[in-house]
Amino acid sequence: MRTLGLTDWRQLHGDYFKGTKVLITGGAGFIGSHLSEALCTLGATVNVIDDLSGGEAANIEPFDRVTLVKASILDQDALASCVAGCRFVFHLAALGSVPRSVEQPRLYNEVNTTGTLNVLEAAREAKIQRVMFAASSSAYGTNPVPWIEDMPILALSPYAANKAACEALMRAYSNSYGLDTACTRYFNIFGPRQNANSAYAAVIAAFAKAMLKGERPVIYGDGEQSRDFTFVHNAVHANLLAARHPGAIKGEVLNVGCGGRVSVNELARVMAKALGREDLTPTYLPDRAGDIKHSFADLSKITSTLGYSSIIGFEKGLGVTVDWYRKVLAPAAG
Ligand SMILES: NC(=O)c1ccc[n+]([C@@H]2O[C@H](COP(=O)([O-])OP(=O)(O)OC[C@H]3O[C@@H](n4cnc5c(N)ncnc54)[C@H](O)[C@@H]3O)[C@@H](O)[C@H]2O)c1
Repeated sequence: MRTLGLTDWRQLHGDYFKGTKVLITGGAGFIGSHLSEALCTLGATVNVIDDLSGGEAANIEPFDRVTLVKASILDQDALASCVAGCRFVFHLAALGSVPRSVEQPRLYNEVNTTGTLNVLEAAREAKIQRVMFAASSSAYGTNPVPWIEDMPILALSPYAANKAACEALMRAYSNSYGLDTACTRYFNIFGPRQNANSAYAAVIAAFAKAMLKGERPVIYGDGEQSRDFTFVHNAVHANLLAARHPGAIKGEVLNVGCGGRVSVNELARVMAKALGREDLTPTYLPDRAGDIKHSFADLSKITSTLGYSSIIGFEKGLGVTVDWYRKVLAPAAG
């Protein structure tokens, strides 16, 4: 089995998931494939439902005990058959880009919100123990940082609004039907397998692709916007901790970040240095609709509720990620 060999999942989670069957929606995507990998390492059996609109079968092919069903979460029959016999659902399937959601709000509402309702209905029917939902820090919008879970939802984009609506559905299903749920709000997750080839690629993936092609990275705005960049294993760890939590979570929202602040200008400098291309200074374009100025997680709640702390810091995670892009993109870029 191919692994990054970075995190000892067994040391962190023991035998808890051994022999457990789970469903990961969007499991062929970037974060979902790392969650699939970790759960396989831990001895779980993993069903993945993914329509491959953003992910790739190759992301999970190397892992034992993962079964991919190529179908949409809008297909209720497919969902019902994938969820049968599972104990947990990790719901990660979604369309992910903020700017694309501004262009296609109906499509985003259909996939991200109606799709989530379908997942909850399938989970309720199958008597799932807990649904972990991939929520987003974008729900905080214009709130001042650091962002704390009891701040109001101030969505700046249809994507953020959809994610906030899904959080409300998670809580409602816990209250109305006793289906336990947890909303983990991810902060700028990055790492190997994050798609660099989309017009809407996340910033680290986009910078890596540009620099490996010898092009200057593009920054939208003045580059002083900052992010709590979070290596993907931290998001996987938070999901596993949430599933293992002994009491009900009842739809509570929990920040998943690293607790750091890095400006996009600083990121460009660090990545250019790591790739030996300090000559590639950024090109600046106007801000994009829906973009957030600063994001920074307060981690008190997830630390006290789940005992979470970040397991791989920004610098180490970025080094691993840059090495991975160098291997994967450099031949094509050259
Ligand atoms: N990457 C981040 O920084 C970040 C931050 C906050 C929240 N999230 C959320 O985490 C989840 C995973 O994100 P990711 O970064 O791995 O993105 P990704 O695009 O790599 O993964 C999403 C997966 O969902 C699949 N998918 C999309 N529509 C589908 C549908 N209708 N039916 C079945 N599968 C479908 C895609 O094919 C893809 O494999 C998403 O819900 C995303 O909104 C990500």
